[in-house]
Amino acid sequence: MSTKAPRDFRPALHYAPKKGWINDPNGLVYARGKYHLFAQYGPEPHWGDLHWSHAVSEDLLSWRDLPNALGPDGLGMVFSGSAVYDENNSSGLGTKEGSPIVAMYTSHGEHEQQSIAYSLDGENFIKYPGNPVVPNSEKQDFRDPKVLKNPKGGWTAVLAVGDHVEFYGSEDLIHWHMTGSFGPGGNYSKGVWECPDLFPLTIGGREVWVLLVSMGACPENRGSRTQYFLGSFDGDTFTCDGSFKEPEFIDSGFDNYAGVTFFGTDERILVGWAANWVYANDLPTGEFCGQMTIPRTLFLADTPLGGVRLAGAPVSDKLFGAPGPIDGSLPGEVFKLTVSGEGAAEVTLSNDSGEAFSFGVEEGGDIYIDRRRAGLRDFNADFAKPEYGRISAPRFFTGPWTLELTFDRSICELFADKGTRVFTQLLYPAAPYDRIGVKGNAKAEISLIV
Ligand code: FRU
Repeated sequence: MSTKAPRDFRPALHYAPKKGWINDPNGLVYARGKYHLFAQYGPEPHWGDLHWSHAVSEDLLSWRDLPNALGPDGLGMVFSGSAVYDENNSSGLGTKEGSPIVAMYTSHGEHEQQSIAYSLDGENFIKYPGNPVVPNSEKQDFRDPKVLKNPKGGWTAVLAVGDHVEFYGSEDLIHWHMTGSFGPGGNYSKGVWECPDLFPLTIGGREVWVLLVSMGACPENRGSRTQYFLGSFDGDTFTCDGSFKEPEFIDSGFDNYAGVTFFGTDERILVGWAANWVYANDLPTGEFCGQMTIPRTLFLADTPLGGVRLAGAPVSDKLFGAPGPIDGSLPGEVFKLTVSGEGAAEVTLSNDSGEAFSFGVEEGGDIYIDRRRAGLRDFNADFAKPEYGRISAPRFFTGPWTLELTFDRSICELFADKGTRVFTQLLYPAAPYDRIGVKGNAKAEISLIV
């Protein structure tokens, strides 16, 4: 496979590796003043030989790469997992001088088993000699542990197990026992269950637990998508409140998968892998392949048409100045557009090569994105198909709307109706878009990084 990119598609605001491959974000943890982002990492720009790469940041937007944290061993490759800051040293892996960051990950060998590793300096990781801490020789898919503080004390790990999730409890992050499970009952989506997360949010003083499950690629979902359920967690198991009768996804675009949230932050901050398993291995980006979504602060919103929904706002908003008028031209390849309107409207970004990316609101009120003519697409047969080009989703509101698009060279995120609908998508214009047109009863404004 050629590793030469037709042009530089490296994003400015989204994390991407210098070289090689990344998929899922792993081990998201805030500890001692730094955000840690680990990722499924392979040394070549395609999936394989999985390690955990490691980067740190103080603002979630500029990242400093550190040496890989974990690599394959006799138990197999290092698949996805999470990390916690074990402040009270419940694991006993810390020292008098400091508490450890403890990572729990899947060892993917002949079987999938769960292992742990710890770090005292936030950089060097030591694998626990008694791995695996959750052995397995029966379950075919048994992976992606997400560890959280149990509301009743101790720790919980949520694991994806084929067509359901299982909950495990522990006092010390080393000894684990199963406490409950959720699914397949209550699930309306196809695809193998992967990369779960579980966390509480509040709305109107009420606590609601959110269970995220990423669903492996299937045509019904247009590839790989991340689903969510709302309900309660009693410390042992999750109970869905049954408010959804069809699959609900955290993102209505094509390219947000395996997203999980940070441990140790006051706000609930999600990072996803900005790709889709259907074509992820063929992206035309050269010596790197894969990037993360912009970290997104999650919250619940009560909507007139959809009831309580998961919503988000990109942390990059703080970088941009106030919105100002547009004269039809676009400066550079990193900007934010704010479009307000009513009824049907379409915004089109285009260039002299005849490439155009459009988004807007349909006659019937659905929001859509359309990258069918946006740029390169023949690098993968599925990416080039219309069903991976245009996608729409209904609004949860009626009346006037606002769409906010963060554009970053080869990826954009569209936040509609205050983040209650989000579309994340990759796109590869052969030349930068330098023009913008608006059709319908709508006004677009632009913000640049200040
Ligand atoms: C999700 C996933 C995980 C697995 C990892 C392997 O994208 O399939 O279930 O741990 O990727 O790279």
